[in-house]
Amino acid sequence: MAFIEWNDTLNTNITEIDEQHRQIVALINALSEAVRNRAAESDMKALFETIAKDTKAHFETEERLFRMHSYPERSAHAELHRQLETQVESLSSKIRTGAMPVNDSVLLFLRDWFITHIEGSDRLFGFWIQSRK
Ligand SMILES: [Fe+2]
Ligand SMILES: [Fe+2]
Repeated sequence: MAFIEWNDTLNTNITEIDEQHRQIVALINALSEAVRNRAAESDMKALFETIAKDTKAHFETEERLFRMHSYPERSAHAELHRQLETQVESLSSKIRTGAMPVNDSVLLFLRDWFITHIEGSDRLFGFWIQSRK
């Protein structure tokens, strides 16, 4: 069983967003496999950096769509993105310097954040878009 199983409650029904979410979920699942298989630390660091980079790019995509559609909740939603970026940057520097290993707590943090954020915030944007069609 995958660390994060995709299910319908994760769909926003906005193709571009759902594709990026699936890609990030696949990367988190790959990181989980790497931790489970005790992969080389350098491989896990590289995977973590890819997740951080893709997440940042994904937030840019969402915020571009918010602006394009004049989404009323855009500042509050973008603020949640900034908070996660700050947390990921702090984790990233600890991981890079070896002060913190890539371990289960990193994985649980990523999984909880993404699931809570997709279900609690990204889907609201999806529903809002649908309601305007
Ligand atoms: Fe998202
Ligand atoms: Fe978001």
